Amino acid sequence: MNTLVTKLDHIWISLTLRQPWLPATTTSKVQLSTLPPEPFIASKKPFKVELVGGKRYSWCTCGHSKKQPFCDGAHKLKAPGLMPLRFVPEKDTTAWLCGCKYTNNPPYCDGTHKQDFIVSATLHEQTDS
Ligand code: FES
Repeated sequence: MNTLVTKLDHIWISLTLRQPWLPATTTSKVQLSTLPPEPFIASKKPFKVELVGGKRYSWCTCGHSKKQPFCDGAHKLKAPGLMPLRFVPEKDTTAWLCGCKYTNNPPYCDGTHKQDFIVSATLHEQTDS
């Protein structure tokens, strides 16, 4: 599945819209991308949280939630195509959940936030719109 998604991520679809009432030279071209939206860097550091074993959590993957590191539904308007990651810890534990949203071990921080593309990124204020 991951291989298929990776292959699809890089496919661009080009469509020519047929508009019979216009000359062939003026037909519109529309390009659609299958690339998922990029996550917003919510924080350049992980969030230390106390997790309750057996409880279901939704980790924000889009970075737009105001309840970081958890989902508040903001992805529906600001990042359609990204969904929260749901997880259930086996036991009560303290965890460092990723705030940069680029971890390779979601929802946990794996140190990716120390890489240049995160360190040098500009954080933007989130707006309500
Ligand atoms: S905060 Fe994202 S990898 Fe550490």
